[in-house]
Amino acid sequence: MALAFSIETSCDETSVAIIDSDGKILNQIIENQQVHNKFGGVVPEIASRAHLQILQRIIPLSFKQAKLNLNDIDIFCATCGPGLIGGLLVGSTIAKSMAIGINKPFYPVNHLEGHLLSPTFNNILKFPNLSILLTGGHTQIYFIKKPNDYELLGETVDDAVGESFDKVAKLLGLSYPGGPEIEKFAQKGKFDAYDLPHPLKNKKNMSFSFSGIKTAVNLIVKNQTKITQKFQEDMAASFQNKIIEIIINKIERTIKMLKNKNINIADISIVGGVAKNKALRNSLLNNDKINKYNIVYPPIEICGDNAAMIALVGLQKYKHKIKPDHLFNFKANPRLSIIESGSL
Ligand code: KG4
Ligand code: ZN
Repeated sequence: MALAFSIETSCDETSVAIIDSDGKILNQIIENQQVHNKFGGVVPEIASRAHLQILQRIIPLSFKQAKLNLNDIDIFCATCGPGLIGGLLVGSTIAKSMAIGINKPFYPVNHLEGHLLSPTFNNILKFPNLSILLTGGHTQIYFIKKPNDYELLGETVDDAVGESFDKVAKLLGLSYPGGPEIEKFAQKGKFDAYDLPHPLKNKKNMSFSFSGIKTAVNLIVKNQTKITQKFQEDMAASFQNKIIEIIINKIERTIKMLKNKNINIADISIVGGVAKNKALRNSLLNNDKINKYNIVYPPIEICGDNAAMIALVGLQKYKHKIKPDHLFNFKANPRLSIIESGSL
């Protein structure tokens, strides 16, 4: 039984975790940096300073809560990209230093690979798997033939889906992060109150585009004399409905494309912060073309950014005996691609 300690600092969640090689989370602390709320988005410089301060407090706390010592840990892991460089440097430097301090291996981890493997905490993933990654920084569709074999089928050409939730929430005067706020306001709104565009609707590829919807919302907002609660609710519902329609349209297209190539998928995974959205989950469940497949999600607290999923990837590399000798030199990379890190 091996134990992994991990740090996640790619954006505005500061998180540490200790998990064992069976994937059991012995301890996890996720601290959301509230300091950005008043800016309506993450301020990178403030985020990196906050990561440093929070980590100094939660690392000893995590060991205390787990009733473990540093020497009990077999491998150290940290997110090394993609993400905001300041945060990546803080988290990876601390994890590397801890590893060097007790002469144990360090594993750099790709944040997106963490999200993609996150459903394995509560599911036994079957392959080939179709993974829909919906976060604040990425919107991507992956075909995962087998573990460690990722093929990117398509992604957004502009804003990420979570980013569009955050930006539209800001336009409506709602707080940050926008996803949960939009979801809450949408519950009381009319989903067909506003006719918003569906970019790339007829494109046969797997690309997404969300920036045009944000612009359309902005134009309607500008024409309002007053932003009433009714307007916020109706616009939140119309926006959320359109986003769900777009995601479903692309999943249906991907299924069709794979079928045409005689590729049968086993599971469809929905991962990332936007996977928490209940309206999206219900729509997927009610869609006859999609609900034929086993739709899997990570546990709710593992949908957003967390260190446990980072440790999981590190442990997988460790189990596959990937040589860690050179990994101390691995540089944090804001644009780290999953293909690069998959070959580590
Ligand atoms: O995966 P995540 O925690 O961080 C990144 O890797 O980016 O995703 C954060 C994003 C934010 O944009 C947030 O607004 C969105 O996930 N989000 C949601 C919901 N909860 C969080 N979007 C829609 N509905 C939600 N309930
Ligand atoms: Zn994330």
